[in-house]
Amino acid sequence: MHNLQIMGTGRWVPEQQLTNEDLSSIVDTTDEWITSRTGIRTRHISTWENTSDLASKAAQMALQQANIQMEEVDLIIVATMTPDSSMPSTACLVQKQLQAKNAVCFDVSAACSGFVYAMTIAKQFLQTGFYKTAVVIGAEVLSKVIDWQDRNTCVLFGDGAGAVVLQHSQDLGVEACYLGSDGQGDDLLECKGVALQNPLKPCTQTESLRRPSMTMKGREVFQFALQIVPACIQQLLDQSGYTIEQIDHIVLHQANIRILEGVAKKMKVPKEKFYSNMEYYGNTSAASIPIALDEMREQNLLKKGDKVILVGFGGGLTWGAILLTW
Ligand code: UT7
Repeated sequence: MHNLQIMGTGRWVPEQQLTNEDLSSIVDTTDEWITSRTGIRTRHISTWENTSDLASKAAQMALQQANIQMEEVDLIIVATMTPDSSMPSTACLVQKQLQAKNAVCFDVSAACSGFVYAMTIAKQFLQTGFYKTAVVIGAEVLSKVIDWQDRNTCVLFGDGAGAVVLQHSQDLGVEACYLGSDGQGDDLLECKGVALQNPLKPCTQTESLRRPSMTMKGREVFQFALQIVPACIQQLLDQSGYTIEQIDHIVLHQANIRILEGVAKKMKVPKEKFYSNMEYYGNTSAASIPIALDEMREQNLLKKGDKVILVGFGGGLTWGAILLTW
């Protein structure tokens, strides 16, 4: 079995920003409510780039940083709930933009857990030696599926992409993974797709015109997160034999500062161990963890040998976590 290591990271967000103040002129909300309930102050919103554009730029940055040529890339996985199209996959569109002609490409749909799912899939391919170099991307243009009249959701989300390059390595790198799903919670976070239609069941005009948008039962999802995140971390500690004290950084999906604080309190872990950047990006679903990783690398927060835990949770319901040595 091969070890695999993150060789490079990258991120890309659209230029345009939408502040809490801006949102208060669209829906009945205030900067005070959004900041105190979520920790979010502003988010990036795409005006012209689609998910594959953000994903390609993040991937390009990660490959440059890793000093790896396009031809070396064997595998491109894009985790997204906002693909450019149902077909082709966003990963194939990224391949085209990058001209990574030797790569096998596909998307993964696991909402805000998508990046952790995609990393875990890439790990299976790499550790067996089936492939050597993978680009794993979390990318979202959530503004496409937001109901801008719904204050319960429109203040929370943002657009962006983050990417990592994984390759065989002598170092420990990605050590342990854990994934879970519960379809019983399907209605807690939803973004309905195309209505069922065929010659035997024509859909109504309203059904065919309705633009899919996201809905969320916020309080239930909040409680789910507070319960599942500590369970995910504990799973990885049990698998690896490390104690929580040996973990240097915990990178949660950036949904809400109160989730981060709640988990820190519940697990009796200093808040400083948790990286947080939701203030500037909002919740970017599958993109939030790789964006955070890229910022941490840029700020020299990640030292060689540091133990890092990544935890994703979201629609499906889905959840997952990864333990790695930087
Ligand atoms: O990424 C996938 C995972 N997602 C998450 O983890 C999100 C988890 N959930 C949350 O982060 C929080 O539940 C929210 C931030 C979505 C909501 O915070 P909350 O403290 O749970 O608020 P709430 O839904 O209980 O609503 C409290 C009040 C309500 O008013 P009443 O019924 O008490 O009069 C809402 O109508 O706040 C009201 N409200 C708002 N007020 C001003 C809801 N949204 C807004 C808003 N501005 N944007």
